[in-house]
Amino acid sequence: MSALVELSDAHVVHKARSGGLFTRDKVYALTGADLAITPGETVGVVGESGCGKSTLAKVLVGVERPTSGTVAFRGRDLWTMPSAERRAAVGGSIGMIFQDPSTALNRRLTIRQILRDPMDVHDRGSRAEREDRVRELMSLVGLPRALSDALSGGQRQRVAIARALALDPDLVVADEPTSALDVSVRTQILNLLLDLKERLGLALVFVSHDIQTVRRMSDRVITMYLGRIVEETPAGLVTDRARHPYTRALFSATPGLLHPIDPIPLVGPVPSATRPPSGCPFRTRCWKADEVCARAMPAFSAASAAGHRFRCHHPVEENESTRDLVRHSESKEP
Ligand SMILES: Nc1ncnc2c1ncn2[C@@H]1O[C@H](COP(=O)(O)OP(=O)(O)OP(=O)(O)O)[C@@H](O)[C@H]1O
Ligand SMILES: [Mg+2]
Repeated sequence: MSALVELSDAHVVHKARSGGLFTRDKVYALTGADLAITPGETVGVVGESGCGKSTLAKVLVGVERPTSGTVAFRGRDLWTMPSAERRAAVGGSIGMIFQDPSTALNRRLTIRQILRDPMDVHDRGSRAEREDRVRELMSLVGLPRALSDALSGGQRQRVAIARALALDPDLVVADEPTSALDVSVRTQILNLLLDLKERLGLALVFVSHDIQTVRRMSDRVITMYLGRIVEETPAGLVTDRARHPYTRALFSATPGLLHPIDPIPLVGPVPSATRPPSGCPFRTRCWKADEVCARAMPAFSAASAAGHRFRCHHPVEENESTRDLVRHSESKEP
C-alpha cells in the first residue's frame, strides 16, 4: 500500500541550547530516519527520554523541517512545495495531539472557537457547516454540549483530539497524549483514541513512555535510541522476539508477564546527543558490544517475520527468551 507519509534519511540537527552564546555544539536529535506510515495502521514509538521521539513526530507532521533528507506526503516532497501548498497538504491530512493539552489549547478562545479554528484557517465549508462540524466533533469525542470554562484535564485532551480531527485527517500523530493526565482518565482517553481510529479508519502514530500501552495499541513498534530508529517490530513479537538488545531491555521491564522476570539492566546514562558514540550509539550500554560496534552503525537487517527489521551487529537470537538474556546480561555487564 502506498504510504501516507514517508521519511527518507531524515536528519534533524539543532544548535545546542546550553553551552553559551558562541557554542558550536550540535544536537543530533534525529539521524538517518527512514519510516513509512501506511493508511489505517497504528505505529508506536518507544525509547528513553531525549532519544528523538517528539522530533520524529514533528517531522512526520511537517511542523519541523528536517536538516536533511526528505518527507513525502502521498509521494510528494513536502519541503519543496510552496509553503501555502505545504500548509494545505499538512493541515488537510494530518492531525497532531501534543503532550500537554493546556499548552496546546489557547485559553482565550472558547471550545467552539478552538474547534472551528482549523476550518477557518483552511477555509472549509460555510459558516453553518463549520458550526455543524463543531457539534459533530464534540459528540465524536464524548464532550457534552454545554461545557463550563473550567475543563478537567481529560476534557481538555478530548478537545485537543477533536481539534486534531476537525479536518478529517488520514493520520493522527499523538505525542504522549496521556502523560499529563491522571491515571484514572488515561485509559478513557486511550480507548477513545483507539475507538476513533477504528471508526474513522485513521492511521495513528503514538509516542509514549508507557511501553505496555504502546505494545497493546500498536500494530508495529518503532524503537529509537539516541536519534536513531534501531528496530521496527510487529507489536505481537516485541516482548519476546525483538532482535535489538535495546528493545529487549526496554520490554523486559514488564509487569504483568505470565512469569515476571527481573528486567535487563540498562547500565549508566544515555550518552549526550551532542557527542553520540561512534558506530552503534547503544554500544556503551550494551552487554553484547565489541570493537565492531564502535566502527560503524550497521544497516537494517530483515528478521524472519514480515515488517520486522533491526540494526545491530550482534542481534539477540529470535528464539532466545528474554529470561535467558537477563541471565547473560547479568554475568556480562559492559
Ligand atoms: N529546539 C531544540 N534545540 C536544541 N535541542 C533540542 C531542541 N529540541 C529537541 N532538542 C534535543 O534533541 C534531542 C531529542 O529531543 P526529543 O524532544 O525529540 O526527545 P524525546 O524522545 O521526545 O524525549 P522525551 O521522552 O523526554 O519527550 C534531545 O537531546 C533534546 O534535548
Ligand atoms: Mg518528547
